[in-house]
Amino acid sequence: MPDILISESVRGAAVDALAKKYSVEVLPELWKDQAELLKKVVDVKALIVRNQTQVKADVFAAAKNLKVVGRAGVGLDNVDVAAATKAGVLIACTPEQNAISVAELAMGLLLSVARLIPQANADTKAGNWNRQKFFGVELYGKTFGIVGAGKIGILTARRAMAFGMKIVAYDPYLSPDNTLLADLGAKLMGIDEVLAESDVISCHLPATTATEKFFNAEMFGRMKANAIFLNTSRGEVVDEAALVDALKSKKIAGAGLDVRAKEPPVAGELETLDNVVMTPHTAAFTAEAQLRVTNSICEDVGLALEGKPVRNPVNKV
Ligand code: MLT
Repeated sequence: MPDILISESVRGAAVDALAKKYSVEVLPELWKDQAELLKKVVDVKALIVRNQTQVKADVFAAAKNLKVVGRAGVGLDNVDVAAATKAGVLIACTPEQNAISVAELAMGLLLSVARLIPQANADTKAGNWNRQKFFGVELYGKTFGIVGAGKIGILTARRAMAFGMKIVAYDPYLSPDNTLLADLGAKLMGIDEVLAESDVISCHLPATTATEKFFNAEMFGRMKANAIFLNTSRGEVVDEAALVDALKSKKIAGAGLDVRAKEPPVAGELETLDNVVMTPHTAAFTAEAQLRVTNSICEDVGLALEGKPVRNPVNKV
């Protein structure tokens, strides 16, 4: 049995450095087989995961020597933190190491939808020169609403500001005198006002029981007809049937989606809609972000195994 088990694709110099000190087993497909995962974790001291391995009570019950779980990413919907704490297992994550990349992809999706870039690319590469077919809209002077004003929401809003957009925000956990929002000249509002005022709505909510299907038919119904909806956080926060309906009936103008309710998704109606641009949960997948994420999580796992305080703890054990 290895000291450190990595159940998804996490590689690089930092992993190699850990492997000089500990035995490390990298099984990038292990997350797909929970029964096998439960067998593999019995004696490991550390487990490193991304967002696909389900690290729930069954894992903590099976793992007899587990000290630390390193979550190479920010979302904790696949990790039962309460069960970890009860089992005395430390969770470490990478709270901001991939935030810039996610913010950049959100803007990429927005430009793609607003200027029909994927459609124009496919059409032009097919040998056409259809200038009138790809008529877009400007971002300048429009209102950019962030729903969830954490690190990624703020970084995305900052980039939208550079396009001359006005920023509004909804976040039930922030107070109106929040200085990060003040820096953006952003107004903290109720969700109804954000939906009514925004030309772009960028979702940055974590997946929790409270946020499940937060964006439902009623929410889409309150958006402007020209609204572009972006989601680079978690697919579970969107009622996808309601989104399909809103896009088909032109209640909203378009959507840019990096995440889906179920991943990988079963292809359905969303895939057939022209006003949707999709990426396969790759917002954090850049060389720079993954270097930061891997370095940070390997450093924290190493520290935890030495019994030292980690830089990015999620719980106290
Ligand atoms: C995250 O939560 O950090 C991102 O969704 C990327 C990932 O989980 O790999």
